[in-house]
Amino acid sequence: MKKKALIFGVTGQDGSYLAELLIKKNYIVHGVKRRSSSINTGRVDHIYQDPHIKKRKFILHYGDITDSLSVTRLINYIKPNEVYNLAAQSHVQVSFESPEYTANADAIGALRILEAIRFNKLEKKTKFYQAGTSELFGLNEKIPQNERTQFHPASPYGVAKLYAHWITINYRQAYNMFACNGILFNHESPRRGETFVTQKIIQAMCRIKLNKQKTLYLGNLYSKRDWGHAKDFVNAMWLIMQLKKPDDFVIATGKQTTVKNFVNIVAKHLGIKLKWKGSGIKEKALDENGRVIVACDKAYYRPLEVNNLLGDARKARKILKWKPKTNLNNLISEMIEIEMSKISF
Ligand code: NAP
Ligand code: GDD
Repeated sequence: MKKKALIFGVTGQDGSYLAELLIKKNYIVHGVKRRSSSINTGRVDHIYQDPHIKKRKFILHYGDITDSLSVTRLINYIKPNEVYNLAAQSHVQVSFESPEYTANADAIGALRILEAIRFNKLEKKTKFYQAGTSELFGLNEKIPQNERTQFHPASPYGVAKLYAHWITINYRQAYNMFACNGILFNHESPRRGETFVTQKIIQAMCRIKLNKQKTLYLGNLYSKRDWGHAKDFVNAMWLIMQLKKPDDFVIATGKQTTVKNFVNIVAKHLGIKLKWKGSGIKEKALDENGRVIVACDKAYYRPLEVNNLLGDARKARKILKWKPKTNLNNLISEMIEIEMSKISF
């Protein structure tokens, strides 16, 4: 019998890569999409349209993790072997503006799925993966961060994910469920949402290169992130779910870059020479002709910033035999190539 997976958040960056991976591994993949006023399946449409993938291998359902009835009904109907909870209001800055919704979706959403598994008496059959985050470390700048590092979330998003992390462990311990947390550091791809900093930088710099935009406006240039490729990271999710015993893992590349350096690497790829001057909110980068290519705008600063994230994924390397395949340079060049091809058309 083929294994059945259910992905909450299938229309997102990670959901789309995970669906592809699981289909390749011969799973029947059920995905949950939300109703929206415009089409939100752009990242998974190619799976539908692939003539080699039979329709019955990839099935989409309407549902919402803020709606207990839809979550419970879907789990009862599908009775999946593996549930991946990737659904979330995933933008840190937005979480300061919609903190209650973020808590409802990101914290209680995880509880709804766990409880639905239990309510439907599927504890023995259904494994659960929770999409945890390096934002849990937040203000704890002791690096590198691993499974033993103390959490200190610094946003409504981080705090909501802290609840999800602990409720996953709680259900594992209380009900003996196979429930795991992946504590994933930032991961990007050509499918990354346009308001996350990597994609925002790449889209703007490509447009600047083609004279379609003048300036890129950013917030904190000095925050440091450990950026990997989403494809590598969804593979880690699957490996976590194949273990004999449920456990929690940090997934990270172990290499750190500032936002400013990310801009510099992108500029170098595109052959744009940047000269930085000024400091703080007045810091900017000019091109050879003295045009302002990058400037700061306080709209993109957060009420509280997570400055320093660097992961130590030794446990995953040892137990899961996981390691990232794509380095930052190759990630950036893939993102630029796809973006350039979109702009040209
Ligand atoms: P993403 O692109 O923002 O995707 C989020 C997904 O969740 C989308 O499919 C979205 O649907 C769905 N969603 C949002 N609210 C929902 C709701 N109320 N009910 C059902 N679905 C809902 O995020 P991602 O980058 O793929 O990340 C996947 C997960 O990993 C998220 O939980 C995120 O917090 C976590 N994470 C991400 C990273 C990273 O660097 N990417 C690192 C650590 C953890 P729509 O398409 O309709 O918006
Ligand atoms: N989005 C954005 N836009 N971020 C900016 C900007 C800007 O204009 N300018 C500077 N930054 C800085 C942010 O302040 C942050 O320090 C860093 O760039 C990365 O921001 P994002 O790309 O928005 O990602 P994030 O690190 O806040 O959150 C992402 O990674 C988390 C894992 O650490 C998201 O994917 C979360 O869902 C995920 O949990």
